[in-house]
Amino acid sequence: MSAIIKGIILSIGILSISACTTTETPIYKIGFSQCTAGDAWRLAMHEEMKRELSFHPKISLEIKDAQNSNELQIQQINEFLASDIDLLIVSPNEAEPITPIIEKAYQQGIPVIIVDRKTTSDQYTAYVGADNHEIGVTAGRYAATLLKNGGNILEITGLPGSSPAQGRHQGFLEGISNNSKIKIVGSINGQWEQNIAQEEVGKVANQYKYIDLVYAHNDVMAKGVYDEFKKIGLANKMMFLGVDGLASDGAGLDLVDNGILYATFLYPTGGEEAIRIAADILEQRAFAKDNKLTTTIIDGSNVRLMKLQADKIQSQQYNIERQQQRLEQQLQVSQNRQTQIYLLIGVLILTILLGANSVINLREKKEANKILERKNEEILAQQQKIIEVSEQAKKATEAKFEFFTNISHEFRTPLTLILGPTEEMLNHKTVKRNYDLKKDLGLVRKNAIRLLRLVTQLMDFRKIENGKMKIKASENDLVLFIGNIKSAFDKNANRRNIEYHFITKESTLLVWYDQNMLDKVLFNLLSNAFKFTKDYGRIHVYLEKDIHENVAIITIDDNGRGMSKEHAKHAFERFYQGEQYNSKGTGLGLSLSKELINLHHGEIYLQSEKFKGTRFTITLPLGKDHLNLEEIVEKKQKEITYEDYKIYIEEDEESLAGIDAKVSEHEATILLIEDNPDLQLFLKSKLKKWFDIKQAYDGKHGVQMAFETVPDLIICDIMLPGQSGLAVTKTLKADLRTSHIPVIMLTARDTMQQQIDGLKSGADVYITKPFNFEYLKQQINTLLKNRDHQRERYLNELPSETEQPTVNQLDKQFVNQFIAVVEANISNQNFNVNQLTHDLGMSRIQVYRKAKALLGYSINDYIKTVRLKKAKQLLLKPELSISDVAYEVGFASPAYFSTAFKAKFDVTPSEFRTGRS
Ligand code: FRU
Repeated sequence: MSAIIKGIILSIGILSISACTTTETPIYKIGFSQCTAGDAWRLAMHEEMKRELSFHPKISLEIKDAQNSNELQIQQINEFLASDIDLLIVSPNEAEPITPIIEKAYQQGIPVIIVDRKTTSDQYTAYVGADNHEIGVTAGRYAATLLKNGGNILEITGLPGSSPAQGRHQGFLEGISNNSKIKIVGSINGQWEQNIAQEEVGKVANQYKYIDLVYAHNDVMAKGVYDEFKKIGLANKMMFLGVDGLASDGAGLDLVDNGILYATFLYPTGGEEAIRIAADILEQRAFAKDNKLTTTIIDGSNVRLMKLQADKIQSQQYNIERQQQRLEQQLQVSQNRQTQIYLLIGVLILTILLGANSVINLREKKEANKILERKNEEILAQQQKIIEVSEQAKKATEAKFEFFTNISHEFRTPLTLILGPTEEMLNHKTVKRNYDLKKDLGLVRKNAIRLLRLVTQLMDFRKIENGKMKIKASENDLVLFIGNIKSAFDKNANRRNIEYHFITKESTLLVWYDQNMLDKVLFNLLSNAFKFTKDYGRIHVYLEKDIHENVAIITIDDNGRGMSKEHAKHAFERFYQGEQYNSKGTGLGLSLSKELINLHHGEIYLQSEKFKGTRFTITLPLGKDHLNLEEIVEKKQKEITYEDYKIYIEEDEESLAGIDAKVSEHEATILLIEDNPDLQLFLKSKLKKWFDIKQAYDGKHGVQMAFETVPDLIICDIMLPGQSGLAVTKTLKADLRTSHIPVIMLTARDTMQQQIDGLKSGADVYITKPFNFEYLKQQINTLLKNRDHQRERYLNELPSETEQPTVNQLDKQFVNQFIAVVEANISNQNFNVNQLTHDLGMSRIQVYRKAKALLGYSINDYIKTVRLKKAKQLLLKPELSISDVAYEVGFASPAYFSTAFKAKFDVTPSEFRTGRS
């Protein structure tokens, strides 16, 4: 497109340039040095030149006026020469002074045309003018005829140094020479000017009273002299002859016609001829060097004819000029038309190009449109497909939900059948006495209740989604209602030392609500509050009436774990599981609560701050204007029973089972780091038969307990509040105090990558949930047995040091440090546990438990073993007595040394020595 536009602009540019170049500009320059421009004859010459020039558009002309001054003329010719003229025309003021400058021009190679007056040299290109000598002769002869009986003549001359004056004088003398009675009695220099001639004659006029004829070299001087003689009344007695015969008003022809001049002799200006010859020279055509103009006598006999001819010529010239003007106008018109035509052509081309461009564009657009149409069709088809797929997906989801709900529903009967007998069994005497059985059954009961609650919630959701959940509001006392629900949690609060109150100024507050719905909501909120509030925490329930907003406001406020901003934002979203729900619940409870409150045209919102607490606020509209008729039922206040709320309250199973029996001391201690209290309870009840159990509910606490108690084995969950199980394991494995403790990672995460992550963190075994308890037990035993093997290895290596890449480097480091300290003190009888723990930079319990775990000995036993092993080596040296050896390895009494040696190796030191030697 841009290329096309560029083409268009270029074409139009070329057209406009060619349109402009049709006007011709002069390419030749002529300089004309005129001796004077102060009289009619010279002006007539200029006119003629201009007229002729109109036929030569390539030629331009510049005229400089020398004002009758030789000096000025020389200066002006020099100026012409210094400029870039192509040809010089000169009418010299006087011949002699002007000749050198003309020769100079000629020699420079500039063509020179001399007009009217001549130089004294033949160094010029062409001459144009009438023959002044001939004019003089003709005038002389004419005078002689007039004065055939003799007479006196007064001659008025032009500038004596100018060639016409010389020619006209000489010729005149020749013309009158045949008549001896004629005399030239006086000659006055009129310098070609009328006023000068008149003045000069005026000075001497009285001397020339007898003059018969005045011969003036031009008409204007003749007129001046006539006027002067007329003043003294002599003009009528004289005859006046002039030269030039100019046709303009008051000039030669008129003077003859008026009888002022007797006759005049035609002296053409030659302007026209001069230009014509100049054009020939410049355009390199043939031309003549000397171009003589014809002359004639004009007197009373032919002056009229001459005037007529002159007038005719004048009018013809005028016509020619008009023609020329018209021609020029026509030319202008035609040039304008030409320009218009060019522009039209330009516009035409432009239109064609633009048209072509449009056609191309149209075609491209059509193509693009076709492509777009195709794409559009494809998109539509895809859209249709997506709609179909999403429809199918929707149906499938719907079907899944349906199936899920149905299955859930199916759970209700078996769950009830589990719950019934379990409750019964729990009340049975035998069970009540058997702590473990009671605890297990409590767990069954609690989880069955939990499942039942989830199933109920799911079904409620389905009802809400299908629009089947309808509010059945009756007017009841909210104070009583909340009080009942509140008291259902009193026992729990009491047991856990939670400051738990229901605070309200109202004694009764009648509100329209659906009791079955609102109790679900309140139980859910209270249940959450109890779940996330620590023992000795605070839970307050408030009820107030806002008469401005016409609502009842229920607030449940706790100082429990609180939520992050992010969690609080999504807390009411269905299936949203924030950090609090990692191991508990489904995220359905809050979402369901919100739906139920919405059905009441009420509002529920929460404010929460992490680690500070949570406040839920419910507003319920007062009155029943907001409810329609189907939403209202007449029903009396419902009694809240245990059955109503049991599925909401997560009871502490410890309480169900009574006070935990005192467990006996066992060989090994296991630390359980698990946030799920049920799993904690389950594992503890199962493992406590064989092991001492320590419990931690989060990562941070777990690490702390591991450092404090240095257990023999740790069972740790991956998903823990705060610090994850992976982080806990990493910390423990990187610390000298706990690096030796085997860790079993217990988690629901079961992808291969997660297992790898678990093992990378240093866990010894990774068990995924659900797990088989026997398998877990087996793993615990294997790990503890491995520890025994490891002990043996350490012991066998004693006291030398070897690299064991399979063993934790920190444990290796501990054993080496331990051995080094003991070895350094091997002969120090006062060396004891205090010094050892001091040298190792650990606490007594840490050293004790670590050494026991890694080496299988108590520290004292170990020191003794090192000493006895060293003694074995020393006994091989015969120069040392047995007593020496005993002292050397730190025994104060050789007898005790022998007893200890025998106990350790079954041989006495001396038997060992003889046996060896
Ligand atoms: C004009 C004029 C004419 C005369 C010519 C001679 O300036 O004086 O009258 O014929 O010059 O050069």
